[in-house]
Amino acid sequence: MIETKQTRERIYDTDEMFMNRWSPRSFSKKQVPQADLMTLFEAAHWAPSAFNFQPWRFIVAQTAEERNVFHSFIKVFNLAWCKSAPVLTLILSKTTNDGKFVPTHSFDTGAAWANLALQANKKGLITHPMTGFNFDKAREVLHIPDEYKIEALVAIGYQDDKEKLPAQLQEREQPNGRHQLETFIMNGKFEEK
Ligand SMILES: Cc1cc2nc3c(=O)[nH]c(=O)nc-3n(C[C@H](O)[C@H](O)[C@H](O)COP(=O)(O)O)c2cc1C
Repeated sequence: MIETKQTRERIYDTDEMFMNRWSPRSFSKKQVPQADLMTLFEAAHWAPSAFNFQPWRFIVAQTAEERNVFHSFIKVFNLAWCKSAPVLTLILSKTTNDGKFVPTHSFDTGAAWANLALQANKKGLITHPMTGFNFDKAREVLHIPDEYKIEALVAIGYQDDKEKLPAQLQEREQPNGRHQLETFIMNGKFEEK
């Protein structure tokens, strides 16, 4: 596994788990034990949410048949690498509660996704989120009601050697960086940065 310290630098003493999570594309075909996989969803569902509404939902594809259905709506540039991932999970958020719109549905589901990704790393697993797929086709083939927003798709599995990837993806197969921390922080009022 790539040592993230080589390519990621931090100023403040933040927990290692934040530095160690990244989104590789080289997935081994090795199956994920069900109990390990479930720890990811366990972590996800402990995320905070407005009114504890828990709007996150996960459609999990593990069998060849289920993954083939998912492959039918994933764009070619993503399918090229995520075909070998043993688990694909479509993340949805429920947009209404008792018929009323829940404005925080995406915010809360984003928190659940972050928990899932961090827990995956703790289990020696990798995750790669995607929005490069046909949302309308996913809704159609998986019979997803309008009340649920499709947020993202995530590939889950074990990391493989980068040499297994198509040549053009091999050079991108390393943890990336972030903008300077101060770019994101405003002091007491809105500041254009
Ligand atoms: C909502 C979302 C959609 C993304 N869509 C894609 C995608 O379609 N294909 C892809 O290769 N990576 C995709 N990514 C991965 C991002 O490029 C990646 O998370 C970002 O560069 C930060 O890198 P890191 O996750 O390795 O820290 C997506 C990430 C997020 C959060």
